[in-house]
Amino acid sequence: MSQSAQIHLPPPSQKGVMPLEEAIARRESIRNFISQPISQSQLSQILWAAQGTSDTSWNRTVPSAGATYPLEVFVVCGANCVEKISEGIYHYNNDNHSLTLHHRGDVRLELARAALDQEYIYEVPVNIVICAVYERTLRRYGSRGERYVHIEVGHAGQNIYLQAIALGLGTVAIGAFYDESVREVLRLDKQYRPLYIMPVGRPA
Ligand SMILES: Cc1cc2nc3c(=O)[nH]c(=O)nc-3n(C[C@H](O)[C@H](O)[C@H](O)COP(=O)(O)O)c2cc1C
Repeated sequence: MSQSAQIHLPPPSQKGVMPLEEAIARRESIRNFISQPISQSQLSQILWAAQGTSDTSWNRTVPSAGATYPLEVFVVCGANCVEKISEGIYHYNNDNHSLTLHHRGDVRLELARAALDQEYIYEVPVNIVICAVYERTLRRYGSRGERYVHIEVGHAGQNIYLQAIALGLGTVAIGAFYDESVREVLRLDKQYRPLYIMPVGRPA
């Protein structure tokens, strides 16, 4: 992965305006979005929910079998889509809640093509792409680790759904895509296997 300056995200808030029960009750998949940028603090909150750490310990917001932490989160950002963040692919560093530029340029259209032309992928400001490095979990659990990785991405995906709703945003969990094509669009090494694409934006 290419190294470059980190973008430190605003600290995530741990007090929201929507009760958890309301977010659960309102959870749904959104596929129609208006073209409006999101703020850095909204992106910060979504990434924290997906794979961040709490401020009192190193526990992540999502459980992990044997704390093997196989998930890696990437952000595909369009031009003028997130306040003060230019178009590109970014890697989320959960340890210091920052982003590292991985590739410059808007790849939303390419990403949509790799996902059976699901158009909401290029209509939203950002797509959260959750990948797994299976080896981290399989090393400890053998083939059963594969099940654990899949369960874990579900935890992360549900957190993104709930956090999006609580922020007045929407998302949909996308599993229909060509793995190899998504990996190529994201310029990722073979060890990274994409599991979910989650477009995030303001519902129409
Ligand atoms: C593993 C998984 C894969 C999915 N893949 C897609 C997808 O590729 N495209 C899509 O539009 N929705 C996808 N969905 C969302 C489902 O279609 C959606 O959850 C379902 O229709 C129920 O609607 P709701 O989420 O609004 O309750 C997926 C959901 C899951 C759990």
